[in-house]
Order: sequence, then C-alpha cells, then structure tokens
Amino acid sequence: MTADVITIFPRLVEAVLAEGVLGRARARGIVEIRARDLRDYTDDRHRTVDDMPYGGGPGMVLKPEPLFRAVEAIAAERGAPSAVVLTSPQGVPLTHALAERLSHLDRLVVICGRYEGVDERVSQQLVTHEVSIGDYVLTGGELPALVLLDAVTRLVPGVVGDAESVAGDSFARGLLDHPQYTRPAVFRGTTVPDVLLSGHHAEIERWRRQARLQRTLERRPDLMETALLTADERRELDRLQGKAGTPPAAEAGAPPANRLLKERRDEGD
Ligand code: ADE
Repeated sequence: MTADVITIFPRLVEAVLAEGVLGRARARGIVEIRARDLRDYTDDRHRTVDDMPYGGGPGMVLKPEPLFRAVEAIAAERGAPSAVVLTSPQGVPLTHALAERLSHLDRLVVICGRYEGVDERVSQQLVTHEVSIGDYVLTGGELPALVLLDAVTRLVPGVVGDAESVAGDSFARGLLDHPQYTRPAVFRGTTVPDVLLSGHHAEIERWRRQARLQRTLERRPDLMETALLTADERRELDRLQGKAGTPPAAEAGAPPANRLLKERRDEGD
C-alpha cells in the first residue's frame, strides 16, 4: 500500500509516521507513506493555500487549485489513487469497518482539512471519502489523518507482528475489549482476578467473554445493536441481561463496573 498525506504541516506528519509500528512498517517496505507539502503545489510567490470564504465569515478556506494539483501530481507519479480521503468534522465516522475497507486499497491519498473548511468543489470532485474521527472539532486535519492512517495500516498484513492480535481485536466484531493485567499479581492492594492465574484456558476465555460484554453494555450500549456475537456470547449476554436466570459461575471473579462511569450514571449524566 502507498499513502500520500497532503498537509501544510509535513514535518509534523513525518515525525509521527517515523515512530513505532508504522515507522517500522515503512522501514521494512510493507507500506510506503509520504507527507506532501501542500505549498509545493501552489503557483504564487507567497505559496498561498487558503483564502477568505465567499459570503463572509471568520477563518480561511483551503483553495481548490493546490489540492487538485497535488492529487494530480501524486496520480501521475503512482497511478490513479484508489481513494482520496478528506479529514473533516463533516465526514462519516471513522469506524473499524471503514478502516478495514481502506486497508485493502493499493493507493491511498489523505488530504488534511482545516477546521474552517475546504472549498466544497474539493469534496465534490476530488474526494471519495470525507471522514471524521469524532464529534469534536480539532484545529486541523493532521491528527485525524494520522489516526486514520494508524487504524488503516495496522490492518495491512505484516504490519502488526502478531496477526492474531489484529484478527482478535474485539472491535473487529464490534465489542469493547476485556481488561488486561500483567505482573505483579498484587499491586497496591489490588489483586489480579484468580481465574487469570489459574491456567484454565476455558475459564479464562469465559471470564474475558463476559467482561467484554459487560463493558460494552456498560460503556457503549449502542454497539450492541450491530455487534457480531458468537453463540456463546449471545448466551452470556442473555444471562447478563437476566433473560436466562442462571448466574454464571465466573461472576464472582468478574471485573468491577467502572466506578467513574457508575458514578456519572448515578448523577444522571
Ligand atoms: N478536522 C477537525 N476536526 C476533525 C474531526 N473531528 N475529524 C476529522 N477531521 C477534523
């Protein structure tokens, strides 16, 4: 996969992409990601990338010409892009499912938007996916572009060493993940649940399954609508929701509900 990020802050983007899992994947040639300076595609002395909005109002809007030129130059160099993504609070939400679809593409272009806006003709004629990373407004599209690239490239085969860790992402099936513990077994008076130290794999899996469902119900009940549940999870969910009557044997070792969330709920937040 190649990914080209069009930005007015190429050094910021490059600095993040040089580190960690993505940095290693780039060094090993599994993905080729480049930051492109939008100002390199301007044609005036001041390297102007934005202008005042028609109709008035605060802020500046990214001009269409440099963005079109940048994408056309990338297409001439690499071949037509498979997708041109614009990061914008007006976009569709970035989900695991969207990241998964994008991870199968050969040539990705990501345009970092600006919070004031991007000329609408860019969205209409150049962009294939307008994507938001959440219902809040950031000052620029660079961090969202990096979030998107991280979520997408870790799904490209070979990028994450342990394929099982990617395939087993709870989000791959629409659930939150279970709690994790490492040594020491007792830390400041809090003990790791006994079942995790038992070496009993079936019981451990059962505890984790229950914890994933409990957490998702507690923190993100909206996800339950679309989660892809196994038959075991479906049964466990029925039990948790009191539909099957028999409390699970592992209940005693189940993780405590998140105190903060619980308090918030009690306050009616
Ligand atoms: N640009 C500014 N805020 C954003 C957001 N929440 N998602 C994507 N791009 C953005």
